[in-house]
Amino acid sequence: MIQLPKHIAIIMDGNGRWAKKRGLSRTQGHRKGLEALRNTVENAAELGVEFLTVFGFSTENWKRSTDEVSDLMGLLRFYLKNELQTLHKKGAKLRVIGERDRLAPDIVKLIEGAEALTATNSRINVTIALSYGARSEIVSASQKLAQRVANGEIQPGDINEQLFEDCLMTSDLPPLDLLIRTSGELRISNFLLWQIAYSELVFTDTLWPDFDKACLEQALADYSNRQRRFGAEDVTGAAE
Ligand code: FPP
Repeated sequence: MIQLPKHIAIIMDGNGRWAKKRGLSRTQGHRKGLEALRNTVENAAELGVEFLTVFGFSTENWKRSTDEVSDLMGLLRFYLKNELQTLHKKGAKLRVIGERDRLAPDIVKLIEGAEALTATNSRINVTIALSYGARSEIVSASQKLAQRVANGEIQPGDINEQLFEDCLMTSDLPPLDLLIRTSGELRISNFLLWQIAYSELVFTDTLWPDFDKACLEQALADYSNRQRRFGAEDVTGAAE
């Protein structure tokens, strides 16, 4: 029986290498990466994935050249302006997580508009992590809880995993079943560190711009073949 993940996340890596291999600019690689994102949203919805979370821009990406950062922000504006109606018609609910206050005010406005327009859609939930870093998310959750203790609302001993999760930016998302990283890199790069505790991990050599429906289907097939035990004993008799 095919086991379908309800929530998948993707580290979309390899735009630069894809472009370099073809003698193109990094900007052209990112443009092709945006196309791959657009197609992946549709492919994931068609395949029945309910929640898709993607790493669009990390807190570390601010360290890239000013030109590259402004190209990526330009692409983001383009996506939020020109693709919004298509996303909406296709039934996608869009949300953004990350340090919103570091983004330009016009981008924040576009994000708010996109979230409001698509708020009641339910075919697929798309979360884009922008200026996101998992360690910073965990620190910020700790600060919120420390503040609640300081206010006398809770005792230190009241803090448990559920309370902690409620303070994360992903608090309204279901558990992450599958994390995919493209481009052959075997790292998590500060993405969803808390959330991947029991996720299955799939690494593929495919560069993100080449990630098509067949690649997504392959990742879902890999997931389906995994035995998820969440730390419990193996009841199938399979080797550890
Ligand atoms: C990694 O490629 C990808 C990114 C830094 C961002 C992902 C961006 C897109 C998919 C385009 C859409 C943009 C947004 C913001 C929604 P890389 O540049 O690290 O590739 P490399 O490791 O081969 O150099």
